Amino acid sequence: MNQLVNTIAQQTLAEIEQAGLTKRQRPISSRQGPSVTVAGTDYLNFCANNYLGLSGRQELVDVAKQALEQYGFGLSSVRFICGTQTVHQALEAKLAAWFHKEAAITFSSCWDANEAAFATVLTDQDAIITDELNHASLIDGIRLCKAERHIFKHMDMADLEQHLKDTQSKRLRCVVTDGVFSMDGDVAPLQAICDLADKYNAYVVVDDSHASGFMGATGRGAVEQAGVLERVDLITTTFGKALGGSNGGAIIGSKPLIDLYHQRARTTLFTNSLSPMIAATTMFVLDFIDQHPELREQLWKNTNYFREHMTAAGFTVPASVHPIVPVMIGEGKIASDMAKDMLAEGIYVVGFSFPVVPMGKARIRVQMSALHNQEQLDTLLAAFKKLGKKYKLI
Ligand SMILES: Cc1ncc(COP(=O)(O)O)c(C=O)c1O
Repeated sequence: MNQLVNTIAQQTLAEIEQAGLTKRQRPISSRQGPSVTVAGTDYLNFCANNYLGLSGRQELVDVAKQALEQYGFGLSSVRFICGTQTVHQALEAKLAAWFHKEAAITFSSCWDANEAAFATVLTDQDAIITDELNHASLIDGIRLCKAERHIFKHMDMADLEQHLKDTQSKRLRCVVTDGVFSMDGDVAPLQAICDLADKYNAYVVVDDSHASGFMGATGRGAVEQAGVLERVDLITTTFGKALGGSNGGAIIGSKPLIDLYHQRARTTLFTNSLSPMIAATTMFVLDFIDQHPELREQLWKNTNYFREHMTAAGFTVPASVHPIVPVMIGEGKIASDMAKDMLAEGIYVVGFSFPVVPMGKARIRVQMSALHNQEQLDTLLAAFKKLGKKYKLI
């Protein structure tokens, strides 16, 4: 065994610990839900991406069990060898229809989808223009690609336009944005982005992981809410948040592009296909969302209620509409102390500080679910008000 590599790992761990940045896990012994059990104690849970509350839902467990029986546990293969079952193709056809696009391809995660999205299509003759706060998986996917990289200031349309002007000699330009940014819950100006892309003949990729399933009139995402579902060229999304909360992701778009991903994307050619149990359950989820509009209605009701009451109480909550609600604290130590105190109040929320968010912009990020009831929301508000006074935030 090599000592040197272990010594270096230990040194790095000590540095992380010294900087107060060690991430500790709290093992949950219950299903994911509006409350969870940690070390035998129940906590109200306000930090999952379980927007529609489907992650622990029995109907999904039943469908997954049936699929296990029918398709088995796994495929032991990549898609093009012997890893495609009827359920994979059925899900891809359903995703395409659901998002009003021609075709879709599934991956084991949205991370894999975003790794595939750029290098498969773009070469060194092309340019990618990407929002500075895009998700890490988009950043890494773009790094894997030889296209020239241009980073525009967060949601700054004048800066985006400048980059579009600067790259006019390129064969192809691709504009990339998150639909919703996960640290602030702010929603990208997708209409303006599509307008600029049209003006400069660029194509648009939107990662709608934090919006698919509940934003827009029918839950098709931030792209639907902005009225650009048909104009966006590619949507990438995860099945790991509102769409069931397990694993998996997809790219949805035109048939030629999706066919090319099947031929060339390294994260489909060299890695196992999505578990059939998840493929079958995700098909069920898409129908379930269509049949249960009351879930997203409740989610928005909860979100609006919490946002309004926190603002009225005097907390700083950046203006947005999304169920990600950052409660701004400022100093990192106060955010982490307050999150600990919230836990003592029976509420599970997490403090985020530098380097995850800019210095001086530490916050507690609260996330709403359709499953939270009035009593749970009021308990959360009461705890915030009590601790907000303790920490002189209100
Ligand atoms: C915007 C965004 N894109 C992609 C991902 C990755 O999704 P997955 O967990 O399916 O890999 C996440 C998850 O955190 C995300 O927030």
